[in-house]
Amino acid sequence: MEKPDTDLSMFELTGLTAVVTGGGRGIGRSICLSLARAGANIVVAEINPETGQKTAEETEKLGRRSLSVKTDVRRKDDVRSMFEKAVDVFGSIDILVNNAGGADPMEMAPPLSLTEESWDSIIRLNLKSVFLCSQAAAEIMIGQHRGVIINVASLSGVFHFTQGMHYGAAKAGVINMTRTLAACLGPKNIRVNALVPGFIVTDYTNELTYDHHEDMAALRSRFVALQRLGEPDDVGGVAVFLASEAARYITGQAIMIDGGFPHFPEIVPGSE
Ligand SMILES: NC(=O)c1ccc[n+]([C@@H]2O[C@H](COP(=O)([O-])OP(=O)(O)OC[C@H]3O[C@@H](n4cnc5c(N)ncnc54)[C@H](O)[C@@H]3O)[C@@H](O)[C@H]2O)c1
Repeated sequence: MEKPDTDLSMFELTGLTAVVTGGGRGIGRSICLSLARAGANIVVAEINPETGQKTAEETEKLGRRSLSVKTDVRRKDDVRSMFEKAVDVFGSIDILVNNAGGADPMEMAPPLSLTEESWDSIIRLNLKSVFLCSQAAAEIMIGQHRGVIINVASLSGVFHFTQGMHYGAAKAGVINMTRTLAACLGPKNIRVNALVPGFIVTDYTNELTYDHHEDMAALRSRFVALQRLGEPDDVGGVAVFLASEAARYITGQAIMIDGGFPHFPEIVPGSE
């Protein structure tokens, strides 16, 4: 019997509304543009109103509707009022991408030198924010009986990261929260998955002083099977897939987007 052609319309997001936190630059901006290319209207929830507005305008040039809302994802009031505005304008929230996060290079230190202040600050930005946004979005999505949540974790949440134990712990927490929310929200027809980016070159990584060292990029690439660092657009397409009907039976997963890490050419003969 002839197999039916794949129905590519299952990858389309036409008419859906996506909230992307930290969409002003880097991975978040790429996710906004990728979701918009697939048809979604975009709400950019960004602490920097200039970059948030710029991304919103870029999505409009792609023919979508957009809204930029100045939001600090660490603050419950900000998060709640951002979702209210988004629902006022678009009527529903179909996709939430919890992307805002990161770690100030000044907050990196070996475990025994980490300060309590830096621990609290990193956990608040990378872990509490995902809790606040997911809880607010889930309340709306439960009313719609449908929705997709995508959390941006990190390789640091899977492997050890000696200079950023707090960041790694927060991102590991995001992966765990993904599984718990997937279990609780599955019966409500809400899927929850995580993206786990590896070494992606963004303004953020360029700000980390050791990344200015070209040798560091070359060194890192050697430990990636695909032999290059990632670009923000390597992440955007996976977000489209997870948000779409094509991923309708995928929930509670952490999808590695790391070019194949770790790759040890010296100890795996024939891999170079
Ligand atoms: N770049 C990488 O190599 C890499 C690897 C793994 C995971 N990640 C994760 O991917 C996400 C994006 O990283 P990136 O490299 O694009 O970072 P980035 O710093 O380039 O972009 C982060 C965006 O989030 C915004 N933001 C920061 N704090 C915010 C807040 N409190 N409220 C709302 N918006 C806020 C920033 O203004 C910025 O636009 C982060 O969660 C990061 O931890 C990045």
